[in-house]
Amino acid sequence: MKISIYGTGIVGKVLGKAYAERGHAVVMGTRDPNSPNSQAAALAAGVPLLSFAEAAAVGEVIILATKWDGGATENAINMAGAAAFAGKIVIDAVNPLRFTATGLDLTVGTTDSAGEQIQRLLPAAHVVKAFNMIGAGHMVNPTFVGGDPDMYICGNDDAAKATVRGLIAELGWRSIIDMGDIRASRMLEVLAQLWIVQGMRTGKWMHAFKLLQQ
Ligand SMILES: NC(=O)c1ccc[n+]([C@@H]2O[C@H](COP(=O)([O-])OP(=O)(O)OC[C@H]3O[C@@H](n4cnc5c(N)ncnc54)[C@H](OP(=O)(O)O)[C@@H]3O)[C@@H](O)[C@H]2O)c1
Repeated sequence: MKISIYGTGIVGKVLGKAYAERGHAVVMGTRDPNSPNSQAAALAAGVPLLSFAEAAAVGEVIILATKWDGGATENAINMAGAAAFAGKIVIDAVNPLRFTATGLDLTVGTTDSAGEQIQRLLPAAHVVKAFNMIGAGHMVNPTFVGGDPDMYICGNDDAAKATVRGLIAELGWRSIIDMGDIRASRMLEVLAQLWIVQGMRTGKWMHAFKLLQQ
C-alpha cells in the first residue's frame, strides 16, 4: 500500500522503517523537508521525505505520528488541508499530552479525545486509533515474557478497521482488539497515560497491556 507517515519523531521513524521493509511504498511527511533532523529521520527509516502536504496527497493510508501540544497535530493537518485526507484511512497514533511540572499530562479527556477531534477535523476520512498505547520501542514484533500484548483499535468504519488490523498484524501483533467507534479513543488515550505512569514509576519501559478473557 502507499503509506504516508505524518511525522518524523521516533514513532514515525519506527513505523516508516517497518512498513518500508515489508514492501509498502512509504513516504514521511514533515513541516520542512530541508530540516536536518527530519532528513536524518527519513534516512534512518530508509524512505523519502516530503512536506506534510505532499505526503498526505500520495498516501492511501496516512499514519498520524505528530505532537499534539500547542496545536501541532492540527497545524500539521492544516498544512495539507482536510480534502487531502478525504476517503483515506488515517491511523491515529497521537496522544494529547503536555509536559508539566509533574510529568506528562493528558490535555483532553473524559468527554472528548484527540481521536474524536481528529475525526472532526477530517470528516471525510476514516480515522482509526491505534499504536498509541504502546511505546515506539515495542511497536514492531512486540515480545514480552508475559505473552502476546494487545493492540487496541477503534474507529467508525469497519472496512478501515479491517485494513488497519491487517497492517498491525504485519508488524507481528497477534492480539488486536476492536474497542468500537472513535469515542473509545477517550479510553485508549488514558491507557497511554497509564503506560507512561508505570514507566515513570518504575523507570522501566518494558510493559504492555493485556485484557484477560475467558
Ligand atoms: N514516543 C512514543 O513512544 C509514542 C508511543 C505512542 C504514541 N506516541 C504519540 O505519537 C506522536 C508522535 O510521537 P513522537 O515521540 O514520535 O514524536 P513527537 O516529538 O511527539 O512529534 C514529532 C512530529 O510532530 C511534528 N510537530 C511538532 N510541532 C509541530 C507543529 N507546531 N506543527 C506541525 N507539526 C509539528 C514534528 O514535525 P517536524 O517533522 O516538522 O519536526 C514531527 O514530525 C505523539 O502524539 C505521541 O504522543 C508516542
